[in-house]
Amino acid sequence: MNNIYVKTKEKKYPIYFANSFNGIEKAVEENDLSGRKLCIITDSNVSGIYAQNVKDTLEKYFESVFVYTFDAGEKSKNLNTISDFYSFFLENHIDRKTVVAGLGGGVCGDMAGFAAATYLRGIKFIQIPTTLLAQVDSSVGGKVGVDFKNSKNIIGAFYQPDFVYINTETLNTLPEREFNAGMAEVIKYGPIYSHNFTEYIADNKKAIADREYSALKHVIKKCCKIKAEVVSKDEKEGGLREILNFGHTIGHAIETKMNFTLLHGECVALGMKAVFNICLKRGTVSQKEYDELLSLLEYFNLPLNISGITADEIYSQMFLDKKVKNNQLSFVLLESYGRPFSTTNVDKEEIYSAINAVLR
Ligand code: NAD
Ligand code: GLY
Repeated sequence: MNNIYVKTKEKKYPIYFANSFNGIEKAVEENDLSGRKLCIITDSNVSGIYAQNVKDTLEKYFESVFVYTFDAGEKSKNLNTISDFYSFFLENHIDRKTVVAGLGGGVCGDMAGFAAATYLRGIKFIQIPTTLLAQVDSSVGGKVGVDFKNSKNIIGAFYQPDFVYINTETLNTLPEREFNAGMAEVIKYGPIYSHNFTEYIADNKKAIADREYSALKHVIKKCCKIKAEVVSKDEKEGGLREILNFGHTIGHAIETKMNFTLLHGECVALGMKAVFNICLKRGTVSQKEYDELLSLLEYFNLPLNISGITADEIYSQMFLDKKVKNNQLSFVLLESYGRPFSTTNVDKEEIYSAINAVLR
C-alpha cells in the first residue's frame, strides 16, 4: 500500500492509502490493536454512509464494537459533545484497552482524538478521515481538541493516533462545497513547500475536481508526506510546524467572527489571499504567483472576498487566537515561494491592508 510514516519522539505510526475499507483489518493487525473493544465515533452525516461498513469489516477483529454518532458540524465541536462521549464511554465500560476510532471529517477526528487523549488519561486512537481536509491535514499530526466560547481549537492536546487509514473512495460522497474547502488546505502546501506542487495542482485541476483516483491519490499522498515530514521534525509546534498555519491567522478570525457560516477551508482560502497580499507588497512573491494562487482558489470555487464583517472585528478577533504570543500576532509569510517563515514582525498597517484585500 506504500505507507507514509509519521515519526515523533515517542511514536512512529503509518498512514495507509487505499480506495476501499478492505485494508483496514490488516492495519488493525499490523498495529497490534485486535482483540480489544472498538468505539467508533462518527457524525450524523457519515454514520449512515460508512459506519456499518467499517463496523462489519472490523467486528471479527475486536471483542465488541460500539458506534457513537454526534450531530455533524463545527457547532458540535465543543466540550458538551465531549462530555456526551465520556458518558457513552462510561455506559459502555470503555476501558484502557479500548481503541477509539474517529470516522469522519476534521471535526470528528479532532474530537474523537481529544476524548481518547483525556479519557482514562489516554486510550488508543485511530483516524479514519472521510473529508479531503481531514485526509490531507487534520488526521495527521496529532492536534486534537475543541472550540471554546469564541475561540477556535483553544482547548486541546497533541495526541498522535496509532494509525491513519485514508480511503479516498469516501470522497465520492463528499458534497462539492466540502471538497473544495479541502482543496484550500491542499493548495496551502504549494506556497509553504514547493512551486512544483502548485504546478501539479494547476496542471491536473480538472482531474482533481472530477475526483479521479490517480490525481487525488497523488495530491493526498503528497500533502501527507509534507505534513509527516514537518510533524516529525516539530511535533509540538516549537517552530517549524507553524508553517502549516499558513493563512490561518486571519482565516481563523474570519471563521469565528462569521459564526462558522463559512467552512474552515473557505476561511483558510481568504486567509491565504490576505497573507499573499502582504508578501506581494513586500516583494517576496511575484504578481504572477499571486494571480496563480487566486486563479486556483477561484477554480475550486473558494471565496476571495467576504462581506458582512469589518476589518476592526477581524483584527480584534485575531487576538483571541491561540497563536498570539505576548499579545503579538503571529503570521506565516513567505521569504519566497516555497520558503515560509513565522513572524510577529508585521505592522498594523500591513495587517489592515491584508484584511481589506479580502473585504468586499
Ligand atoms: P467536518 O468534519 O465538519 O466535515 C465536513 C462535512 O462533511 C460534515 O457535514 C460531515 O458530516 C460531512 N462529511 C464528512 N465526510 C463525508 C463523506 N465522506 N461524505 C459525505 N459527507 C461527509 O469538517 P472538515 O472540513 O473535515 O474539518 C474541519 C475541522 O477540522 C475544523 O474544526 C478545523 O479546525 C479542523 N482542523 C484540524 C486540523 C488539525 O490539525 N487537527 C487541521 C485542519 C483543520
Ligand atoms: N493544521 C495545522 C497543524 O496540524 O499543525
